Amino acid sequence: MDLVSIRKSYRRYARHYDATFGRVFATGRHSAQKTLAPLEGKRVLEVGVGTGISFPEYPDGVDLVGIDVSREMLQVAQERINGGLPGVRGVAEMDAEALGFRDDSFDAVVGMYVASVVPNPDRMFAEMWRVCRPGGQILLVNHFASRQWLLRGVERSLRPLSRAVGFRPDMELDHFVHLTGCEPEAVEPASLFGYWKQVAFRKPA
Ligand SMILES: C[S@@+](CC[C@H](N)C(=O)[O-])C[C@H]1O[C@@H](n2cnc3c(N)ncnc32)[C@H](O)[C@@H]1O
Repeated sequence: MDLVSIRKSYRRYARHYDATFGRVFATGRHSAQKTLAPLEGKRVLEVGVGTGISFPEYPDGVDLVGIDVSREMLQVAQERINGGLPGVRGVAEMDAEALGFRDDSFDAVVGMYVASVVPNPDRMFAEMWRVCRPGGQILLVNHFASRQWLLRGVERSLRPLSRAVGFRPDMELDHFVHLTGCEPEAVEPASLFGYWKQVAFRKPA
């Protein structure tokens, strides 16, 4: 997967995303908010924010910025903001793997259903970590490679299709753990049967 094909795909999805994928991913977005609360007064960055479908779930007092590489997805997000979302400061076209923010800029950094889509998830996660302040939270909602050997084998066998479907089916959570040297604070199911997981990290203070 590369940025050109990602942009091309999401250009096509943008106007239908909320009615299709948006619904499928609703459970993960709800549970993310519970884990992140309380967010009032906090600076939050959401990477791969897409159409901003998560915006109404954030509390009013949050200071939220969203970034994404797809201009068309962001157009829908901007229309949402124009409809009145006081907590959302704005959205920007930006690569999650090269964030244009200073170190330690946010109290929480969130990435939902994006880690399996970006070209280099390690780089994205390193950037999320960098811009999160010490003591802040980094939250991923994603599918991670199964620990059950049979499912793991199936997921591996699907790897060659990932470019065609735009989704990496066997991403290892351990990569992120090694990258930061920090175990997650919590790993919880974010969908029925736990295919999607919510993983919360805390950057050491
Ligand atoms: C499956 S959608 C998830 C959207 C939203 N987070 C949600 O919960 O519905 C993946 C999003 O990641 C964005 N994306 C993919 N690669 C990216 C990158 N390198 N930097 C920023 N956004 C990216 C896509 O444009 C798309 O909007």
